[in-house]
Amino acid sequence: MKTILITGGAGFIGSHLVRHWVEKYPDTQVVNLDKLTYAGNLENLKDIESRPNYTFEKGDIVDADHVKALFGKYRFDAVIHLAAESHVDRSIANPMDFIMTNIVGTVTLLNAARAQWGNDLEGKLFYHVSTDEVYGSLGEEGFFTETTRYDPRSPYSASKASSDHIVRSYFHTYGLPAVISNCSNNYGGFQFPEKLIPLVINNIKNRKPIPVYGKGLNVRDWLFVGDHVSAIDLIFHKGRKGETYNVGGHNEKRNIDLVKLLCRIVDRKLGRAEGESEKLITYVQDRAGHDLRYAIDSSKLSGELGWKPSVTFEQGMELTVDWYLQHEEWLRNVTSGEYQKYYQGQYGGRR
Ligand code: NAD
Ligand code: TYD
Repeated sequence: MKTILITGGAGFIGSHLVRHWVEKYPDTQVVNLDKLTYAGNLENLKDIESRPNYTFEKGDIVDADHVKALFGKYRFDAVIHLAAESHVDRSIANPMDFIMTNIVGTVTLLNAARAQWGNDLEGKLFYHVSTDEVYGSLGEEGFFTETTRYDPRSPYSASKASSDHIVRSYFHTYGLPAVISNCSNNYGGFQFPEKLIPLVINNIKNRKPIPVYGKGLNVRDWLFVGDHVSAIDLIFHKGRKGETYNVGGHNEKRNIDLVKLLCRIVDRKLGRAEGESEKLITYVQDRAGHDLRYAIDSSKLSGELGWKPSVTFEQGMELTVDWYLQHEEWLRNVTSGEYQKYYQGQYGGRR
């Protein structure tokens, strides 16, 4: 039986990945290491929490003693590393959390893997999950490829860029088997409603103002979370060591167009009058250093490994709106902070 460590498995993408791995690979023991920050929520994994091949470990990836002890306890064959501070606006308000978790935490994991694996590297893999934001901002044209120069502009993207460089350095310097993927903006169920899509759906539902930064002309390239998970699975099993793969589905949308589309879909599903929710759109002060446009060229991943997204943007949006409309209690819990109080009581002071 193989044992795999997934970090950040209680977060948005991590919970989809953990569920996928636990269900698809019953012969693999999946250990989910998560600090349960505001973004980590074990509710996301309720349906699989009692599976025999799943274990949760609460802990901080920055805590070297704890991480080392876990590697000793489980003797991991592989790591898929997602734990991170992930919200750009928070990184502008408080960069240090991002430096600690995204950079120091990644180094801590790499050191533990190196120490545990030594020269016995057959079948071992350190998979680092990263973002297209490391490449900076595009103008009106062009795409990010794997050879685009890194040019991060926010503390978040700079911390992720730094972690990518360090992972690559461990591959070249120590021969640690590693692979990196850089993905575009994800959307789907279980995303914390501080990010654009769940925030907009939640605000439309509650008839609250929809904050659009600047003029709403910034472009993001959206990918359904399940398609990111399928890419990670493929790269994990078939990707070449030391390589980077870009992941994206060519769904570039201006923020304002996306927000209006969500208004139309939610209005239709809730039986509201056409155009009713668009009145909630409120233009607010722009984000500092707001990257204009992201767009991913994922032809290496599709050409080399045969990956392709399974849902269209339109299908993914319908599925996502349905999910948030059907998970009112989840939304209420994560926005009320109730679940954080619960975890404090449940896990406070205990690893
Ligand atoms: P998220 O914020 O929803 O989840 C992050 C998880 O990491 C949470 O469960 C949190 O509790 C945990 N965590 C944070 N600090 C930790 C620490 N010090 N120790 C242990 N656990 C800790 O993030 P997400 O959107 O699911 O993103 C997951 C990964 O994917 C990140 O590395 C992110 O950079 C990358 N990524 C995200 C996107 C996106 O659109 N969301 C796109 C590309 C890449
Ligand atoms: P976000 O979901 O925070 O992802 P990222 O910054 O990592 O791309 O934001 C997506 C886009 O939406 C980004 O251009 C900023 C913008 N945005 C708003 O206009 N209003 C909002 O309330 C939020 C959270 C984001």
